[in-house]
Amino acid sequence: MTTQQFDPARPDSAPAPPCRVPLPARGPTGPDGTVRIYGPAYESDPTGVFEQLRADHGAVAPVLVTGDLPGWLVLGYRECLEVLRTPTRFSHDSRHWNQLREGKVPADSPLLPVLGWQPDRMTADGAEHRRLRDAVTESMDRFDRRGVRRHVTRFSHRLIDDFCAAGHAELLGQFSQHLPMMVLTQLLGMPEAYGPRLVHAATELVKASDQTIAANIYIKDQLRRLLERKHSAPGDDLASWLIEHPAGLRDEEILNLLWLVLVAANENTTSLLAGALRMVLTDPRFRATLAGGQMTLSDGVEQVLWDDPPTIVIPARWATSDTEVAGRAIRTGDMLLLGVAAGNIDPAIRPDINAPMYGNRAHLSFSGGPHECPGREVARAIADTAIDTLLLRLPDLRLAVDESELRWRATTWTRHLAALPVRFTPGPPVGEEQPEPVVPERRPLPDPAPEPPAEPAAPGGATAEHSWWRGLLGWFRGD
Ligand code: HEM
Repeated sequence: MTTQQFDPARPDSAPAPPCRVPLPARGPTGPDGTVRIYGPAYESDPTGVFEQLRADHGAVAPVLVTGDLPGWLVLGYRECLEVLRTPTRFSHDSRHWNQLREGKVPADSPLLPVLGWQPDRMTADGAEHRRLRDAVTESMDRFDRRGVRRHVTRFSHRLIDDFCAAGHAELLGQFSQHLPMMVLTQLLGMPEAYGPRLVHAATELVKASDQTIAANIYIKDQLRRLLERKHSAPGDDLASWLIEHPAGLRDEEILNLLWLVLVAANENTTSLLAGALRMVLTDPRFRATLAGGQMTLSDGVEQVLWDDPPTIVIPARWATSDTEVAGRAIRTGDMLLLGVAAGNIDPAIRPDINAPMYGNRAHLSFSGGPHECPGREVARAIADTAIDTLLLRLPDLRLAVDESELRWRATTWTRHLAALPVRFTPGPPVGEEQPEPVVPERRPLPDPAPEPPAEPAAPGGATAEHSWWRGLLGWFRGD
């Protein structure tokens, strides 16, 4: 079989899309009244659905996922941690899934790319997982923190230079979507020039557009080439450190790990950056507190991770035996979904939802237990350094539309902004003469001046098209 080469500069270079059968429109509940956590009703207001489920069922609620397959959505903070921290009771390995064993999951279910078991993956338990996990964490521990921030500052300036003279920008498309990938390519050991193309390919991939498969082939090709180069000329980068790690990872394992870092980390970090920028621009409490010097930018990013997590539901764990959570009987092989967004605002741990969470990093947004995100410090460094650089360059940055006009996109697993239009006083590019990284922990912000709507927000409401998890499809298919 020959595959057409994806050329990011030529969108028409992708092969024709596979035929897609449109799914019927779905109501908010299944035939027996169980709430669906997919479809338009859920995607337009996932938080509202979570709160209704909590009111009706407490910490653990029965739900339906795509295909009306049953699962338990864990809404309680403590209960989420209980599930995440006891892999002996709740496995990350979907071969335990009773619906799968009973043949109730269709072979073409869009859930399988996300939930299905595959070799060479992080979705294992015990020693199998630990071997890959240790290689990743020990290699990532070798990153020089200052070096990461320096990359973020440099690339932030470069992106800002492209729009600073205009006096307006759309910060999702012109900043947040690009920066994490530019930084990640450096950390992985890729040439700088690859950044923009990979951003384009990763954007196509997570959109599940007609270029998804070609984009995935492109990303995998680049990673394969990277590995070839690093075998013969190792450097100070993640690819080289994974190759030389004593765990003796196979190239295919390293390739899958790098893919996970590049695509999943990029999408989540893009979302965190956009969410934190929105909060800086719209939340008077946030701005006032920051300006008053009580809240650092890092505190602000952490507050966003509490209130507006990039991943709202973590898929998934499966009960290894009959058990119970919060008094709810769970059968062997039942699927549990971790309601991160709901757990983070659980009244049992946050009785006053408006009370700030300064200095508190105990949210669920990076998961917990043996699969806790190993990239959290990198994600935090990208978000707070980028926002600081942006505010330093464009101190009167303000939203260009009314806050109520901002649109969100959600899937079962994620929720994030569709666009972030802003205005500011035009300024000159700084070129290569960029200031050294500045990450002052306390810096006042100007008051947000009310601005008449100038640029429309992206049309449409929530859609399912933006799930980064969908990108896993091509990966599992080995495209
Ligand atoms: C705001 C940004 C990020 C968020 C919200 C996030 C979130 C998560 C979550 C929720 C998981 C755990 C899934 C589970 O328990 O099943 C995870 C795992 C992972 N993340 Fe992140 N992540 C982010 C950024 C990053 C970055 C920057 C990197 C790498 C540089 C990274 C690498 C990984 C890897 C390798 C795993 C798999 C860990 C395992 O299964 O042991 N992530 N991430």
